[in-house]
Amino acid sequence: MNFTGLMPGILLALSIITLPTIATAGDEDPVVEFTPDYLADDANLEQGKALWEKQCRHCHGSAAYPGKAPKLKPYIYKPKFVYKRVTDGFRKMPAWKDVFSQEERMAIVAYVMSSQFAP
Ligand code: HEC
Repeated sequence: MNFTGLMPGILLALSIITLPTIATAGDEDPVVEFTPDYLADDANLEQGKALWEKQCRHCHGSAAYPGKAPKLKPYIYKPKFVYKRVTDGFRKMPAWKDVFSQEERMAIVAYVMSSQFAP
């Protein structure tokens, strides 16, 4: 059997497998970075707090109907995890990428991760 003859087929199969990854890459946000300065910026915290109170508290807040959504535990999260959940949602958590700009989603993360966070 001639292995060299199989190579074009193998290469073709590989490129078909990797294609979807390349095709969806452009739909994602550019890589977000949460610097300590960004997370400590009062303007970001203020913007994030206002959005939290309007859009998140009724599910996640201390006064929300029990069992509606888990109590958030920022002390175990990394900012990028919160950003991902807010952006893409997860199961019953709604996605916000078509509702809030990247800047707004980042501000929400800054607030949730801050010492000012009051669910
Ligand atoms: C309609 C109710 C609802 C709203 C509104 C909502 N969430 Fe959620 N959220 C959920 C539910 C339910 C989960 C649990 C999803 C799962 O893990 O199955 C969740 C999960 C999360 C998680 C992950 C928690 C963990 O420990 O795994 C984060 C972070 C989060 N939400 C943040 C937010 C923020 C920030 C907002 C406002 C932009 C928001 N949520 C708005 C229902 C909601």
